[in-house]
Amino acid sequence: MNALILVLFGIYLLSRTVVKPINRLVSVTERYDGAIPKLQKGEVPNNEIGRLSQSLNRMLRQLDANERELKENILSLKAANAEIRKSRDEMVKSEKMASVGRLATGVAHEIGNPLGIILGYIELLQRGDLTGFEREDFLSRMESEITRIHRIIRDLLDFSRPATAEQHHSNAHEILEDVLAILSPQPLFEKIHIQRSLQGESVIVKLAEDSLKQVFLNIMINAADAMDDFLPGPEGLPEPTLTIESFNEEGFLIMRFSDTGCGIGPHEIKRIFDPFFTTKEPGKGTGLGLSICYTMVDQAGGGIHAESKPGRGTTVILHIPLR
Ligand SMILES: Nc1ncnc2c1ncn2[C@@H]1O[C@H](COP(=O)(O)OP(=O)(O)OP(=O)(O)O)[C@@H](O)[C@H]1O
Ligand SMILES: [Mg+2]
Repeated sequence: MNALILVLFGIYLLSRTVVKPINRLVSVTERYDGAIPKLQKGEVPNNEIGRLSQSLNRMLRQLDANERELKENILSLKAANAEIRKSRDEMVKSEKMASVGRLATGVAHEIGNPLGIILGYIELLQRGDLTGFEREDFLSRMESEITRIHRIIRDLLDFSRPATAEQHHSNAHEILEDVLAILSPQPLFEKIHIQRSLQGESVIVKLAEDSLKQVFLNIMINAADAMDDFLPGPEGLPEPTLTIESFNEEGFLIMRFSDTGCGIGPHEIKRIFDPFFTTKEPGKGTGLGLSICYTMVDQAGGGIHAESKPGRGTTVILHIPLR
């Protein structure tokens, strides 16, 4: 009888000091929803179970603090992301203005010639000893020079105008011709022979007109810079040549721009897509051109890389996804 009472008492003690507190801990952990449960004084027994529940409570507090810290970190990451996006957009804009700035010297030169011719005709017309036929001839020549200036200015304005936001596709061959029309009369391109081998049949690519113009412009100005003042060896090509090829391959338009310029060494070529990497003198290059090309083409799901033989020339290869 005594033994039975002892066993029942043991069971009662076990349930009070071990089973109940453990059940309470289990229900506290199951109910945990981010709010720290408040343990009442009497709820915490003064033994191992009590210490376990206190350390569980400390752990929950730590979890809560970590969660708050994580939320703060996510917020500041979001803010940093927005800041990065903003400065990238500004970088693209300023690089674009820099290339338009470089074109401006050439444009001033291009406009200067017809203006000089027009001034010459005005002087002649002011003399007053001209026949009616001469007058008409000079006036029509003046008109054609003015039309030339008008075209140059219109091309440049077209070039610097931002594309509409909803436009995400463009005709790569058409854009290439637009850029070539701007570049070929430039003094920098005066001595450069341009060869085209455009085999691409699908040419509507997933890149906005504005971005594609900037990519072509930078690659070709780089090529011209590399050929400027560079004299190929005796076995080299007779004249500085920029060869542009295109063809289709597995959903992409591949475009290769090969120049016969100074080339890039194996050490430098690894860095040409890094922002601010430039070997040009101040005022001639910011080192942002290729890194911006890389970002634009990469975001469109394409790629850009370069191969070069120092002293022989460089080829820049674009993989642009087709629409
Ligand atoms: N076709 C090329 N031949 C030789 N070197 C090149 C060629 N293209 C690029 N590079 C090298 O890569 C560097 C980085 O080119 P990137 O277009 O990014 O900047 P940049 O032309 O120096 O300046 P920016 O384009 O900003 O005016 C150039 O300074 C040059 O050293
Ligand atoms: Mg450049």
